[in-house]
Amino acid sequence: MHDLSPKSPRDSEVVMTQLILPPDANNLNAAFGGKVMQWIDICGAVAAQRHCRQVVVTASMNDLHFHAPIRVGWIALLHARVLAAFRTSLEVGVTVHAENPLTGERHLTTSALLTFVAQGQDGKGVPVPPLLLESDAERQAFQEAEARRAQRRNRGRGEQNWMKVMKPVAGA
Ligand SMILES: CC(C)(COP(=O)(O)OP(=O)(O)OC[C@H]1O[C@@H](n2cnc3c(N)ncnc32)[C@H](O)[C@@H]1OP(=O)(O)O)[C@@H](O)C(=O)NCCC(=O)NCCS
Repeated sequence: MHDLSPKSPRDSEVVMTQLILPPDANNLNAAFGGKVMQWIDICGAVAAQRHCRQVVVTASMNDLHFHAPIRVGWIALLHARVLAAFRTSLEVGVTVHAENPLTGERHLTTSALLTFVAQGQDGKGVPVPPLLLESDAERQAFQEAEARRAQRRNRGRGEQNWMKVMKPVAGA
């Protein structure tokens, strides 16, 4: 049985740095959104894996907002932190700040909430350690994550109304 003792979010926090190079850019000379999403997914997954010391899969990426572009030549600073641990799943918050390499000025560019599910070698979900909540801000973040989870579960799984208008495009 793996270790299920409670863990502080500080023990699994991840900081990741990327220099924005031309191959990562869109035609506006800023980081391509899909590339930023890839980095967010990786940064969040590392935090989740550090928390549970299991392989994790991404179940969802929600509340993804691109607040501002990141220019080519600037630095992207990603920060991931576990906000909540449930039974087999964890919610991880990721922020991305842009840093001007010449001045050190930083500002928020992107934020997202991701849920990862821990899986054993048989591909089945495995329990994750509870999260040690040590401050009021951490307790509030946990409660908000719980509310989002409850809302998703109430919504149910499978096809949602909007999918009914999605018909396959002929010849595509
Ligand atoms: C995510 C996945 C494992 C959920 O499997 P499932 O059989 O529907 O799982 P369950 O209903 O038993 O739920 C397992 C956990 O996942 C959570 N979960 C399931 N679907 C979710 C979703 N869309 N968003 C957030 N959490 C979700 C459940 O809340 C549950 O958490 P808990 O154990 O902490 O209560 C499954 O849908 C899957 O494998 N998806 C593909 C993952 C993938 O390929 N990711 C990209 C590459 S890593």
